[in-house]
Amino acid sequence: MSLAAQVSGVFRKLYNRPAQGVWSAPGRVNLIGEHTDYNDGFVLPFALPHRIVVAAAPRDDGLLAVNTVGADERPQRAEPMRISELEPGAVSGWSAYPAGMAWVLRAHGIERGADLVLASDVPTGAGLSSSAALECAVALALLGLDGTARPDRSTIARWAQRAENDFVGMPSGVLDQTASMCCREGHALFLDVRSGEQEQVPFQTAEHGLEVLVIDTRANHALVDSGYGDRRKGCERAAELLGVPALRDIEPAGLDAALAKLPDELAPLVRHIVTENQRVLDTVQVLRSGELPSIGPHLTASHDSLRHDYQVSCRELDLAVETALDAGALGARMTGAGFGGSAIALVHSDRRADVEAKVTAAFRKERLRCPRLFTAVPSAGAARER
Ligand code: GLA
Repeated sequence: MSLAAQVSGVFRKLYNRPAQGVWSAPGRVNLIGEHTDYNDGFVLPFALPHRIVVAAAPRDDGLLAVNTVGADERPQRAEPMRISELEPGAVSGWSAYPAGMAWVLRAHGIERGADLVLASDVPTGAGLSSSAALECAVALALLGLDGTARPDRSTIARWAQRAENDFVGMPSGVLDQTASMCCREGHALFLDVRSGEQEQVPFQTAEHGLEVLVIDTRANHALVDSGYGDRRKGCERAAELLGVPALRDIEPAGLDAALAKLPDELAPLVRHIVTENQRVLDTVQVLRSGELPSIGPHLTASHDSLRHDYQVSCRELDLAVETALDAGALGARMTGAGFGGSAIALVHSDRRADVEAKVTAAFRKERLRCPRLFTAVPSAGAARER
């Protein structure tokens, strides 16, 4: 049964009436352009087929009731929240994301109680943006029920980012939410974060006999929050010292001069951001010219830079990348914030099984948790399902 059918059925049983609609939003993989978003730079994500699906109907008492359905079909209810009383810090755990979204919508004059039933097949804690998918799916559902406002997709992404930054308290950029809202099937999304300009770049791996293999290391180092915030602050400090609005403004040609002005601890951060932005531009160029297999070296260079300069990789991610490359991947890198989560590897379809077996064996040998592997097919962004 599809997730949409599942949430509709559970909704009807739980509330004795049909849902008014079903909406969904996907997780993402970032092909390249890591930690560049909060430096006003370039990113190139694509959406996963994995989605969070929400069945919803309005209610008249100003409450937001959120239920989640797991594999056992049994709904788990969070305590209903009064939307007019939502404040940052008041809600913890996963329901902070739907609450945060309702809080942001309230600030834009959209304040309507709702019953929600959610189900998901986006792996959580895997660096694949299940939280952005949750924010975006809930945003579409609440906007759909309200019907008065029709913000465009990039605006919804910004609102979802605001929920995450100001309500949940995670200082993320806008990469994940934009990917979830704006990606298209068969394409990667080239986003210039500063201008907001977007280009849908064809990314048809199958046409080249290739696949993007996702390797969820199932490692989740607690550093994620503090490590992310520290890198972000480091970048802001470096931009200040260099007298530019954001590190985006440092061109590769001016990199050495910029590095010479910086203290030792900030220089590698800046080197990563400046070279990573260039790698995104180079990757887009390669894809536009139809030479998809040639993006491999850029992916691997991105990983090296994240590992050595930005220092957000970890043993599990390095092992996944190294083993995939040894087994014949054309390129491989960590994806997302780092400190655990997932790596991606660009592999020939006929080598995939071999790469999978070798990665799994390497993790077993190192006595690490067994990684979860799957092929990521570039999929559609958030949408109404029924
Ligand atoms: C997380 C954040 C994004 C982005 C990436 C790193 O996924 O939510 O905004 O900064 O890390 O590229």
